[in-house]
Amino acid sequence: MRFSAADSADQSVLVTEVGTRDGFQVEAEFIPTESKAAVINALIDAGVRSFEATSFVSPRAIPQLADASQLMDLIERKPGVRLTALVPNARGAERAAAAKVDMMACFVSASESHCQANLNKPIERALADVAEFVPIARQFNIPVRGAIAVAFGCPFEGDTPVDSLLRIADTYHELGVRHLSLGDTTGMATPPVVERAVDALQRRFSDMEIALHFHNTRGVGLANVMVGLQMGIREFESSIAGLGGCPFAPGASGNICTEDLVYLLQESGYQTGIDLDRLCEVARQVESLLGRGLPGQVMKAGQRLRKFTLDGARRAVG
Ligand code: COA
Ligand code: ZN
Repeated sequence: MRFSAADSADQSVLVTEVGTRDGFQVEAEFIPTESKAAVINALIDAGVRSFEATSFVSPRAIPQLADASQLMDLIERKPGVRLTALVPNARGAERAAAAKVDMMACFVSASESHCQANLNKPIERALADVAEFVPIARQFNIPVRGAIAVAFGCPFEGDTPVDSLLRIADTYHELGVRHLSLGDTTGMATPPVVERAVDALQRRFSDMEIALHFHNTRGVGLANVMVGLQMGIREFESSIAGLGGCPFAPGASGNICTEDLVYLLQESGYQTGIDLDRLCEVARQVESLLGRGLPGQVMKAGQRLRKFTLDGARRAVG
């Protein structure tokens, strides 16, 4: 087993920032649209190139993201920066296309219970909604990525059988979707669970790009990233400062933290194009914006070779 990038072809990792969607969606108090845009614009300046910026879902389901169209207008678009948004149905696809998203993400849960809680319908009908909106995206030349929620375990049903993942991924594939994102909605993934799921999907589809979306609910999020890296995965989704959660899954908490992920990748010889110090500055700004401390660790500790002066340090004088 090796723990660093093997060669230059292998070194590039795409970090997709999901904090303004997965993170902000659970915040009870409405965050002004300008503040959301300021976070994304600052992250673009720090080198982040891929975002799940918001979602075009029912504003009654997620009131915090009712401003999706206005937010898209306030983001300073730059070439090479991909702005994805979650889309549940044709109505969402029309709104997302009008807002000129670069990519739409459909999302279906691997368990019936979570699908019912999250989309108010069974898996079969949720997949039918995706089938209905993919042609709308295609009409606008917008690629669709397929997310699977509770991919590594469900808080209502327990372990997620690999067959449940394959069933949804098969439908996505038939619809022409070639980007798959496996969501660990309530942090139930562990290294062996990740290995089993990714292995099954890689065997089935040689032409699907797989991204992994972990939550750090039980503290093993970055260990799961290492497993993904070992298996050739080169895209991970994370939230600035470790924001995150799902309002329709009990016990959901923060995503893996973007700064901590970038630190791990950088120290392991992978390239993300992201400036870690600037990223930590944005993480601290997000703490100020929300008025509370957030779980990110590198923003507090600094990078590993940060040096302190002995003068100011406390000494254990006997
Ligand atoms: N954008 C805006 N409004 C939408 C919409 C969309 N994408 N989809 C539905 N609506 C509106 C309908 O127009 C309708 O409005 P009306 O009552 O004023 O006519 C209302 O919502 C109900 O529509 P319906 O199709 O019956 O939806 P539903 O109540 O069964 O909810 C979803 C289904 C999918 C729209 C809803 O469950 C949802 O948005 N879920 C997303 C949850 C989420 O984002 N979770 C976190 C991500 S993992
Ligand atoms: Zn999530």
